[in-house]
Amino acid sequence: MLTLTNLTWLDICLAGVGTYLVKQVFTKKNPALYAPGPPGWPVIGNVSDMPHIKPWLTFAEWGKKYGDISHIKALGQHIIVLNSSRTAMEMLDKKSSMYSDRPVFPMADIVGWKDTLVLLPYGDHLRWNRKNFHRLVGTPTAVKVYHPIEQIETHRFLKRVLAEPGELMGHIRHTAGAVILCISYGYEVQEKNDPFVDLADRALVIFSKSTAPGAWMVDIIPSSSHDLTILVAKVPEWFPGAGFKRVAREWSLIVEEMISAPFQFVKDQIAAGIAPKSFTSSLLEGTFSAEEQHMFKCTAASLYGAGSDTTVSSIYAFFLAMTLFPDVQKKAQAEIDAVVRTLHREPRLTSRRQFSDIAFLGCPGLHLADASVWISTAMSLAVFNISKVVENGVEITPELDSTSGLISHPKPYKCSIKPRSAKALALIKQDANY
Ligand SMILES: *[C@@H]1O[C@H](CO)[C@@H](O)[C@H](O)[C@H]1NC(C)=O
Ligand SMILES: *[C@@H]1O[C@H](CO)[C@@H](O)[C@H](O)[C@H]1NC(C)=O
Ligand SMILES: *[C@@H]1O[C@H](CO)[C@@H](O)[C@H](O)[C@H]1NC(C)=O
Repeated sequence: MLTLTNLTWLDICLAGVGTYLVKQVFTKKNPALYAPGPPGWPVIGNVSDMPHIKPWLTFAEWGKKYGDISHIKALGQHIIVLNSSRTAMEMLDKKSSMYSDRPVFPMADIVGWKDTLVLLPYGDHLRWNRKNFHRLVGTPTAVKVYHPIEQIETHRFLKRVLAEPGELMGHIRHTAGAVILCISYGYEVQEKNDPFVDLADRALVIFSKSTAPGAWMVDIIPSSSHDLTILVAKVPEWFPGAGFKRVAREWSLIVEEMISAPFQFVKDQIAAGIAPKSFTSSLLEGTFSAEEQHMFKCTAASLYGAGSDTTVSSIYAFFLAMTLFPDVQKKAQAEIDAVVRTLHREPRLTSRRQFSDIAFLGCPGLHLADASVWISTAMSLAVFNISKVVENGVEITPELDSTSGLISHPKPYKCSIKPRSAKALALIKQDANY
């Protein structure tokens, strides 16, 4: 199962097993207190040492050289790399109040991600947000009310995969969007070209691009606070190096729409007295000031944003792992079959806890993500055999490769997905509306 998780690189909110979590620390402390790492220049740090492409490979090298925790200073920012899941757990889970500040990504701030949970700095606003997350999705019990939604949507996913197995990534994305929109806003997505799913996809591409380390001039100006946003906002667009502002203006419209449109949908439904129970409708029980409403809006968008891309990456990685490791697949299927036969109510694969605890470490949506990934994994294995594609008599082994970016995905690959048996086929074809 280790390989499965090696493919996901979910930073800030999420960390992956055997992957490396970067934490930027802005407070200027005695440099002697920092962990060892590549040496830097006094002023700018060693920018050339800062890896832009697949940074985890370089981080792993540093791990070998400098140990579990390494450090680099680049352009005024201290970056701490955690190279072991044990250290990451200890620091980010057990001592989360000490380590739950967020790096400043001025470009992402300008684009409009500032008040969402992933980029909120530590403070009242973040605590308030986390409290609400905890209340509504913070425990296995709290997320239980959402299991039926996940099961129905996953069943629909199985039907789509059966019909068009070549469109796996599209189906995973659609399903994750459907689940999270239903949970966040009580919204049922359309089978094709759903406006909110499209919006989320576009906004998340922007999120990835605007947080790419070192990609934006504004991000590498040494700064230790969100105040820079205000300063940068005043630079005119024609100013040399300020081309990012035009891009930011276009992007911010999409992000704003992604944050506001589904929220307005819930408000309209509440006004009409037809809102189903959802994260947002629960948040909105009562009357609130405009500022509180803004916070709610961003809290809900955090769930929507975080939920739709991170589980996609994990589930896509899961199918790749099953393609590459048929023995592991067989073992997992045997476990599921055994559980189904005795019809324990809550099946648990032995690898389950380890995986989600680490993959979604420190993420307030951990239990939701855990349930999503778990339900998709178990239901898919229960009915499908996943294997390598054979083309012209040649078996094609997918490459184990992943994309760069804050949320890394496996590179597109081909696999064959077929019902395991006639009985499995019948199960998939059953009505999914329970
Ligand atoms: C900075 O990085 C370059 C390229 O990796 C390396 O050659 C150089 O020695 C480094 N400089 C310092 C001060 O570490
Ligand atoms: C860092 O992580 C890599 C990959 O998991 C591992 O091979 C290496 O031993 C780790 N180094 C340390 C010091 O833990
Ligand atoms: C699925 O895989 C199992 C072994 O892993 C095999 O026995 C079974 O025949 C396969 N089913 C189909 C329909 O290929």
